[in-house]
Amino acid sequence: MAVPLRPWWQDALVYQVYLRSFADANGDGVGDLTGITSRLDHLASLGVDALWLNPCYPSPQRDHGYDVADYFDIHDEYGTLATFDALVAAAAARGIRVLMDLVPSHCSSEHRWFQEAITSPPGSAARARFYFRDGKGEDGSLPPNNWQAAFGGSAWTRLNDDPADGQWYLGTFTPHQPDFDHTDDDVRQLFVDVFEFWFDRGVEGFRVDAVAPTGKHPDLPDQPPVDPDVDVLDITWLNPHTVFRPEGHDVWRDFRSTLDAYEQRHPERELMMVAEAYAVRRPELVRRFTRPDEFHQMFTFDLMLSPWEKTSIERALLDPLELLGDTGVVPAWTLNNHDIQRVVTRLGRADAHLPESWTNNNLASSRADVDHALGARRARAMAALVFALPGSLYLYQGEELGLPEVLGMPDDRRTDPIFALTNGIFEGRDGCRVPLPWTLDPATSFGFSTLPPDAERATLEEPWLPQPSNWGDHSVASEEARPESMLHLYRDLADLRKKYATSQPLATRSIDLGPDVVGVVRGDLVVVVNATGRPAIIDVDHPALVGRRVVLSTCPESDAGTDVVAPDSTVWYVA
Ligand code: BGC
Repeated sequence: MAVPLRPWWQDALVYQVYLRSFADANGDGVGDLTGITSRLDHLASLGVDALWLNPCYPSPQRDHGYDVADYFDIHDEYGTLATFDALVAAAAARGIRVLMDLVPSHCSSEHRWFQEAITSPPGSAARARFYFRDGKGEDGSLPPNNWQAAFGGSAWTRLNDDPADGQWYLGTFTPHQPDFDHTDDDVRQLFVDVFEFWFDRGVEGFRVDAVAPTGKHPDLPDQPPVDPDVDVLDITWLNPHTVFRPEGHDVWRDFRSTLDAYEQRHPERELMMVAEAYAVRRPELVRRFTRPDEFHQMFTFDLMLSPWEKTSIERALLDPLELLGDTGVVPAWTLNNHDIQRVVTRLGRADAHLPESWTNNNLASSRADVDHALGARRARAMAALVFALPGSLYLYQGEELGLPEVLGMPDDRRTDPIFALTNGIFEGRDGCRVPLPWTLDPATSFGFSTLPPDAERATLEEPWLPQPSNWGDHSVASEEARPESMLHLYRDLADLRKKYATSQPLATRSIDLGPDVVGVVRGDLVVVVNATGRPAIIDVDHPALVGRRVVLSTCPESDAGTDVVAPDSTVWYVA
């Protein structure tokens, strides 16, 4: 068998499936694994190499699966191990690999180990798997330190007021998500077992969650004071005692050696793990996490968080590429995920073009007015840029339909813990998680929900998050019928990427084609982004462009010649 030049994941197109909201095959208003299996042709039509499933383990769903109660089973609303196996097989039949989401930094407070810990005495082995500490003050009624939780409030929760056992435990995100102590042998062994269990079921890798806060300073000292203007949701990310700790790297090295050992025993497999770590405007961290004995790839979020402005975009894409240089490691790019306002809305904000609109906060964002048509134009242009770059590319479900963020959801329908834990100051992330529209039919929640022939129930339940009444306009069925739709653009981009981008060398550099545009050259491919609202004249006599022809413009109505790039659009030139 010929040895592939690059591992499959290096330039893979990966589709993120937010399971709860993808497709509901049993009519209960919640997406499920059988729903995904029934819609795999949609993924195949986008030419994806893999799908990444958000956590589907049993969970009380306090943080929609990022609170895992059992790492070795499937959440009952989503299916069973058998329906999981059926999905992996059906995906493999279409050449699509399955990646899972691994949550190592914490589990659910309903996890068997945590339940055991709270009924075991201080100092017990059961408590050593987590961070249990005595409180401060005479009766221990003050938290052990001043750490704040990422989703609001103190990071510490006290078990009870009994001075004899009123210990506190650490939950970096919420009290329902107690942090594991990875220096504990049981915890280390747990994740070895988790890797092996899912690799045995055909999973080809993991997106590893919350990498930044995994690993703590052993003494858990107080966080140094932060500027009082810092947003409450940002305080945790500035805590040097729990974010980007050297201790975290011991965990990643363990994970990698487990993965490598499995691969050695199964040489036909090509496994991977990609790190989710918000290293906002700290591109140098990509090198630290992708050392040969750590992650294969790390998400590069700066392009996702970048303002719609030439210099910011250039830095966001070139910095990681330059820093990785000839290490052979390439970034994992993305423009959307289940934690961030959707790109059409973000880039449609009245302040999206301001360089200072950079946010250090991945959860909140601007509240400026939104022009959706403008946002969609910019989103098309951003997509055409990112499809050309070396590295893997992760699409988030609904991005290919140009779904906007659902703003103004009724408060009583919001489910994200961020909303409750910040007393409604932050809306949270429900708006990017609304169930997908597949058809124009409101009676089936726009095709999201179906009933199996042997259904016990006679009617469909409401979807778990409300869909806007015009959701059908963004449906797959509606966009299929419109050649200028986002769906057609994404399919075209997927084809063009295979045809003209992934075959190119990894080395990518910028070129100066004019004051208003971002110009990027990768081998024979030249991509030009006009991130302004004006037509941009470009230097067609530049040696990088001579002899090249346009194969794509994201501005469908543009009839401009090769020397004009339409406002808020991207053009691909090839030799
Ligand atoms: C996930 C979030 C989750 C958090 C806690 C993140 O980085 O993407 O959805 O709430 O980790 O697990």
